Amino acid sequence: MSTDQNKFQAIISHCKEYGFVFQSSEIYDGLSAVYDYGQYGSELKKNIKDYWWKSMTQLHENIVGIDAAIFMHPTTWKASGHVDNFSDPMIDNKDSKKRYRVDHLIEGYAETLPQADGDALLARMDELLKENDFAGLKTLIEENKIKCSVSGTVNWTDVRQFNLMFSTQLGSVTDEASEIYLRPETAQGIFVNFLNVQKTGRMKIPFGIAQIGKAFRNEIVARQFIFRMREFEQMEMQFFIRPGSQKEWYEKWKEERMQWHLSLGTDPSKYRFKDHVKLAHYADAAVDIEFDFPMGFKEVEGIHSRTDFDLSQHQLYSKKKIQYFDTEINQNYVPYVIETSIGLDRMFLLVICNAYEEQDLSTPEKPDSRVVLKLPAKLAPVKLAIFPLTKKDGLPELARELMNSCMPAFHCFYEEKDAIGKRYRRQDAIGTPFCVTIDHQTKEDGTVTIRYRDSMEQERVPMADVKQLVMNKIF
Ligand code: GAP
Repeated sequence: MSTDQNKFQAIISHCKEYGFVFQSSEIYDGLSAVYDYGQYGSELKKNIKDYWWKSMTQLHENIVGIDAAIFMHPTTWKASGHVDNFSDPMIDNKDSKKRYRVDHLIEGYAETLPQADGDALLARMDELLKENDFAGLKTLIEENKIKCSVSGTVNWTDVRQFNLMFSTQLGSVTDEASEIYLRPETAQGIFVNFLNVQKTGRMKIPFGIAQIGKAFRNEIVARQFIFRMREFEQMEMQFFIRPGSQKEWYEKWKEERMQWHLSLGTDPSKYRFKDHVKLAHYADAAVDIEFDFPMGFKEVEGIHSRTDFDLSQHQLYSKKKIQYFDTEINQNYVPYVIETSIGLDRMFLLVICNAYEEQDLSTPEKPDSRVVLKLPAKLAPVKLAIFPLTKKDGLPELARELMNSCMPAFHCFYEEKDAIGKRYRRQDAIGTPFCVTIDHQTKEDGTVTIRYRDSMEQERVPMADVKQLVMNKIF
């Protein structure tokens, strides 16, 4: 059995062994903080995306989706403040040359202290971060004798800001004017399309625009598997509202997003809200939804009250009027925005961590164990596995009949090889909620054995009922 400390390592190994997540370019020793999703990982990821997309767009009459390009006009990032402000305070150790994000360095040290001391240290760090007091942060690190994990010394540089955006060149001419950025958030693709969507969709405030897409950040401290990546995906929604109503909508979206997380059946005690101490340059209020990962409570989603900052900035830089005429109050205004922003990869990690279980099934007669992913059925990569008991006596033909009827409706998996017990275990490890075995009795009375992943219970049901039974659980 894994202890809490090595559970995370076990999950990472499991993700690789069962085709969920691979290190990018592994045959060349990998690329740091970049990952590929394998055959089951890409299915699980897509199911999470679909679940979010449906809950945002299909289930909200006033939210529509878009798919904006990753490349945007470079002025976008000047207007949004990312060129000047999208940076983290960093510090280098002069001996090892290793660079740290200041908050990560201090947080790592705080975890080694007794609770009260650690909390006091973090409270002081929060104050200094809020005031952008870089000299104070350096003094805090030195006073606490926080060491570099590589050199073991406290020989630190001054604290400096480091911009997280990746840049590249558009076209063949290399000059400053052709420099563009890989978007560090998907949100700006929504802001610059505000008028397009509002006008063509005849949208009335309050309304939202949702988007799922890649984002890129040159994270300095990229670790903890897919928790912090350099290329990742975001699922963001910008909700446009009347100025002055932001507090009410902020609370509403906080509640709604938490309910979305809980709708997947997760234990509520594994979630908590954490208010931001240091607000991003665009926000007047912000909160994180944190999840209890094996490495502790960490952010999975942010809800931000972005004021009219982004639309006003784009209005200023583009010199185009970006306003809304509110017929109810007969006024023109730049709408305010509440944003919900969740990392798809982080949600994937959350779902896997929450589902992963190592179970000891030993009896006095026989040692036994299994690893099971108790994924919500609607997110599982494979919904139904179909096994003929043997490769002969017409059983594969019957199993294929069931496959053919279920495949158009949901993802199925067919297997004839190995003992049934082994086949069940393989499906447990990828989180398949239902397995069906076709045996000789099927030929006689048309019934099959359905086996439930979590309870491992089995029952006989008519083969003709299987498709509907699975459908009832996954929609
Ligand atoms: N548009 C607002 C925004 O981007 P953020 O808090 O910087 O806000 C939102 O990011 C979410 O994106 C985070 O809650 C997290 O889930 C995810 N995210 C941010 N950086 C990430 C990274 N380097 N790797 C994976 N996910 C990341």
